Amino acid sequence: SFEQSLRPQYLKQYIGQEKVKANLSVYIEAAKMREETLDHVLLYGPPGLGKTTLAVIIANEMGVNVRTTSGPAIERPGDLAAILSALEPGDVLFIDEIHRLPRTVEEVLYPAMEDFCLDIVIGKGPTARSVRIDLPPFTLVGATTRAGSLSAPLRDRFGVLSRLEYYTEPQLADIIVRTAVIMETEMDQHAAGELARRSRGTPRIANRLLRRVRDFAQVRGDGTITRDMADYALELMQVDRLGLDHIDHKLLKGIIEKFRGGPVGLETIAATIGEESHTIEDVYEPYLLQIGFIQRTPRGRIVTELVYRHFQIDPLNE
Ligand code: ADE
Repeated sequence: SFEQSLRPQYLKQYIGQEKVKANLSVYIEAAKMREETLDHVLLYGPPGLGKTTLAVIIANEMGVNVRTTSGPAIERPGDLAAILSALEPGDVLFIDEIHRLPRTVEEVLYPAMEDFCLDIVIGKGPTARSVRIDLPPFTLVGATTRAGSLSAPLRDRFGVLSRLEYYTEPQLADIIVRTAVIMETEMDQHAAGELARRSRGTPRIANRLLRRVRDFAQVRGDGTITRDMADYALELMQVDRLGLDHIDHKLLKGIIEKFRGGPVGLETIAATIGEESHTIEDVYEPYLLQIGFIQRTPRGRIVTELVYRHFQIDPLNE
């Protein structure tokens, strides 16, 4: 599909994450030389950095199929058994949000990862019996926003641990140009730079902003994405100079206005601004920590001087 073709299909088309790519390419080449299945891979890092894309690329590079699912989607051990039994030898099973697998399912996954077999209990009570089912060898690619939220036994069963990092502005600009070329949209270099600056280090955000700016260029302009058109559209979308959006603003201003800049606990902030604490922790906070707008202290979150400067608020008047 069109959506699918926007995504790079092979490592050499994938921009950024140079360390992850360099190491993965060795593990993939070695597995192919030995005609073995690639070891299980855990991809972790903030959302939108390309974990799903990498899982598909790993399968493409290995020349196998990928089956995609997620932690919350696998409710019972039988669901996992059905998925695993349907794999072809060498296939990639991608489990997104793997930290959200139910514990009962996780326990079925251990022998599957280690010995490629399932121990299934049939029946209940005194007539219950256990049967062992052999599985085709497979590669599990797991993705999570935080490796720390995985149980230790699960984390220990991955042979490859790869942490994805925020992209640099030049890398994001390259991704934006690549996407614009695929969408056959005219865009000038300065527009790409502006979009890159406001994408919070995240390709998913970069490509989303690009699509919306393209809409504005088509309806309010001549279809070309210029720097002015990008600025105009981003302002209407309430994306500020640093790429912070309405929710980032609510979060930062909430801490300043209601808690004098902190420290304040995560749950308290969440309740105050009406967002899920998990969403704040996994989606919003990592980038604000990265750019030094928020710090974590033992007593809670505090905003830094950079935030007051960004909003042109005098800290002494607060
Ligand atoms: N599109 C989204 N992420 C990408 C990446 N890392 N490289 C190339 N194109 C992308």
